[in-house]
Amino acid sequence: MTSDSLRPVPAPSRRTALATVGAAGLAVALTACSSDKGSSDSANSSGANGNSGSTTTSGASSPATSQADAGGTEIAKTSDIPEGGGKIFASQGVVVTQPTAGTYKAFSSKCTHAGCAVTGISNGVISCPCHGSEFSATDGSVKKGPATQPLPAASVKVDGDSIKLA
Ligand code: FES
Repeated sequence: MTSDSLRPVPAPSRRTALATVGAAGLAVALTACSSDKGSSDSANSSGANGNSGSTTTSGASSPATSQADAGGTEIAKTSDIPEGGGKIFASQGVVVTQPTAGTYKAFSSKCTHAGCAVTGISNGVISCPCHGSEFSATDGSVKKGPATQPLPAASVKVDGDSIKLA
């Protein structure tokens, strides 16, 4: 028994309360995007508690529970990845691109300059908002500094029409 356990719990600060709401909202949004499991469509529509914001950048978040034992956790359908572009899966820390039709690549979404999360993919380039580094969506190589190291490849695999974390 420490003295901590006897202390009254302080009321959460406004910042804490806002952060909590933000995190909950994100979790709900991610959950809402993960309906592509085939067997649980109804859970998606009824399971969200007041979700109002689904995003396209956060992508699907698979709870690493029931799906993980079938050779990887599905993070997207191949049809979710635009040809010539890509999609960032922030919660998995992965960027998946499709440089050419039917060819999928995956990289860490953590910028090698100072660790920011990359946020954009356009014209074959993955961009970091913090200091402007740009990386090739084809091989992760540096297109523009200040980063000097490529985005490391991420382990994903294509299984039919699913893209799974390997
Ligand atoms: Fe990405 Fe600096 S952290 S450019």
